[in-house]
Amino acid sequence: MNRTRRLRKTENIRRLVRENKLTIDDLIYPLFIEEGENIETEIVSMPGIKRFSLDTISKELDEVVALDIPAILLFGIPSKKDDTGSETWNDDGIMQKAVRFIKKNYPSLYVITDVCFCEYTSHGHCGIIHDNDVDNDATLPNIAKQVVSHAKAGVDMVAPSGMMDGMIETIREALDNTGFPNIPIMSYAVKYSSAFYGPFRDAADSAPTFGDRRTYQMDSSNRDEGLREATFDDREGADILMVKPALSYLDIIRDLKNNFDRPIACYNVSGEYAMIKAAAANGWIDGERVMMESLLSMKRAGADIIITYFAKEVAKVLLKK
Ligand code: PBG
Repeated sequence: MNRTRRLRKTENIRRLVRENKLTIDDLIYPLFIEEGENIETEIVSMPGIKRFSLDTISKELDEVVALDIPAILLFGIPSKKDDTGSETWNDDGIMQKAVRFIKKNYPSLYVITDVCFCEYTSHGHCGIIHDNDVDNDATLPNIAKQVVSHAKAGVDMVAPSGMMDGMIETIREALDNTGFPNIPIMSYAVKYSSAFYGPFRDAADSAPTFGDRRTYQMDSSNRDEGLREATFDDREGADILMVKPALSYLDIIRDLKNNFDRPIACYNVSGEYAMIKAAAANGWIDGERVMMESLLSMKRAGADIIITYFAKEVAKVLLKK
């Protein structure tokens, strides 16, 4: 008889035939950095995750480094917003200050910036508004200004999340023309308009004040369109292609893995984190095991990199083993 159970008999044989592994090397930890002083605010819908100001963030960064997590993804929360999000390209803005502070004090940490406008615009949309919608082509030059400003601050990689057409080409050109040809781009290439971002919008104060993001983020029904989005970003020169959210879009992660010769990242978003935390807090699931199983499913789907609020917890579990 063909007995598949032979290779499941003991932990050692299971270890030998294990196909996918989650490691600390796979992880990027997102951080919310708020302009101001003495800020350390718990995000109610994301237990364990806080907003920090630069004077309170060191113990968090010490922990990230001690756990050997390779990279962080920064989100800036500015003290002033306007209708274009002009703080995003202020060389003394919160993101730029954060990059300089972290690269100076934690030189080993790989620093990635989220490149977007929604936390910086008074209306909460990811670009300039004309006729009640984001104007794609008017937003592109501002994206260029933003990335160049991040580059001058010393960022290691940029991650544009606004889903504007042509944004990767614009960014590549802007970086190349200003002396930063070696800064890679991780594109939020296939980003869905998703209810799973709910807790993040509280955390980053970035909910749109009118309408929604469905004219720029993708419709959850679409799979072929994901390949199209990734194809354009691949051709425009994205170095890493990301799928977001992760858990409800594992098919898309696998599509990208099978079709592109680039590292594939996925974003295990705020709502995915909140669901596990809430169920675990109620004693309805084993939070640690569900966390590990969820992230492993992303690896199995084909993700090389996982951006996750669980990064520190995962690292602790992996170090125990
Ligand atoms: C946009 C951005 C969002 C997230 C990351 N970058 C929110 C959005 O598109 O509304 C969501 C991340 C999460 O939910 O964890 N700057």
